[in-house]
Amino acid sequence: MMQARVSFDRELIKAVIDERLFGSFIEHLGRAIYGGVYEPGHPTSDKDGFRTDVLDLVRELRVPLIRYPGGNYVSAFNWEDSVGPADRRPRRLDLAWRSVEPNTVGLNEFARWSKKAGAELMIALNLGTRGIDAARNLVEYCNHPGGSYWSDLRRSHGVAEPHGFKVWCLGNEMDGPWQVGYKTADEYGRLASEAGKAIKLFDPSLELVACGSSNTHMPTFPQWEATVLDHCYETVTYISLHDYFKNLKNDLPTFLGESVGMDNFIRTIISTADFVKAKKRSRKSINISFDEWNVWFHSRQADEVVEPWTVGPPLLEDVYTFEDALVVGCCLITLLRHADRVRIACLAQLVNTIAPIMTENKGPAWRQTIFYPFLHASLFGRGEVLETFIRCPSYENATHGEIPYLESIATFNRQAEEVTLFAVNRNAQEELVIEGKIAGFEGYKVREHLVLAHTDPKAANTKENPANVTPRSIATTSTDKGMLKAVLPRLSWNVIRLGAAGKA
Ligand code: AHR
Repeated sequence: MMQARVSFDRELIKAVIDERLFGSFIEHLGRAIYGGVYEPGHPTSDKDGFRTDVLDLVRELRVPLIRYPGGNYVSAFNWEDSVGPADRRPRRLDLAWRSVEPNTVGLNEFARWSKKAGAELMIALNLGTRGIDAARNLVEYCNHPGGSYWSDLRRSHGVAEPHGFKVWCLGNEMDGPWQVGYKTADEYGRLASEAGKAIKLFDPSLELVACGSSNTHMPTFPQWEATVLDHCYETVTYISLHDYFKNLKNDLPTFLGESVGMDNFIRTIISTADFVKAKKRSRKSINISFDEWNVWFHSRQADEVVEPWTVGPPLLEDVYTFEDALVVGCCLITLLRHADRVRIACLAQLVNTIAPIMTENKGPAWRQTIFYPFLHASLFGRGEVLETFIRCPSYENATHGEIPYLESIATFNRQAEEVTLFAVNRNAQEELVIEGKIAGFEGYKVREHLVLAHTDPKAANTKENPANVTPRSIATTSTDKGMLKAVLPRLSWNVIRLGAAGKA
């Protein structure tokens, strides 16, 4: 058995967690909207055509924020197509995903859906084929109460109250040659600055997100961020990061280290943003919106044979395995570790396309393996992140360097008087015994130790077997005189909840 030390202290608070760290993303892509959230005629659908079985699962995840409507889709999207009488909306060819977009579900319908889901929307603007004018008009359409051309148009569309969207993305992955209307860092930085200026003239309290690098392999990374922020530093609140993780070589030790790469990505962008801050003698710090992250590789071959120019084709339908859930768990811990600077994060995506929730058209909805770590982090990772001191063995890896066997972080929810330790044991051979000092939590007892583990790293949940990989409770964890002791099964995601004695 391997041993590790994990200690934390009630007084040593790293950050107050922004709940938007548990955000997600829905794009007009594949069956995310058509056949996912929207399926009129499905036995569970409500009067608006929204599947209530899907809504229930989204609500279960307590997602506070959803990025919409893309993604690559947004870079050639005419927002005006998606509002007004549904029978007069144009059918468009979506060049990003080579599909047909009927615009049946548009901005106002999706806003209605997100209210039902209990989530705010973070709207991405098209800075690919369009620019400042379309952006400022959309913001006015959405957020102005009335008495102007665009706000009155919204009212004439049956939406009397403004949506009041707070966070706006200035384009999507503008560094990527695959993007319709992709730009150099200078071209994009200028455009983001001017579009952002117009939006801020409308409402200075809005928060803007500038596009960062699409991933760390981009040839322009990280100079892209430095140049873009040079142009728009004082206008934006966040720089965005995107990253997707793959196990193409079926190399589990490397795959489990992907979050080490995510951690380095975050550190690099914090340094880059702070370098620009110093250059500009600014008092303001730019925070991070990690607004696309997930495992994504399983569906790539299947996507090559999907028929183009159809509505709601089955694109990016990754069937997630147990090992994917461990990687997602490690990423959630990494995001929490940086919660002082990563204020927004969006699991990409939410339904059917690279998603924790899957549906069958006319059939059931079910939870993929990655549903569970996200659920646990979203439910129990609210409050404050505590500085978590870890001493544990590690392994050397050609891609990621030194990878600790234990990935872990503690959070403290003062209201609930509950401390949660999230922990992944990356060791495929051995259990990991963790022991440590939990200063300031001397009277705390174990409320629950949840474990997600499986003998087969490739185990998945499917329509036929939706509960193959599900969490269970174990009862071997204990606290005594301010010390915690737990055993983490080999290859496992763990959620250890400690609470004040006498409290539920
Ligand atoms: O989430 C799928 C795609 O990944 C998004 O459309 C794009 O922004 C990213 O490349």
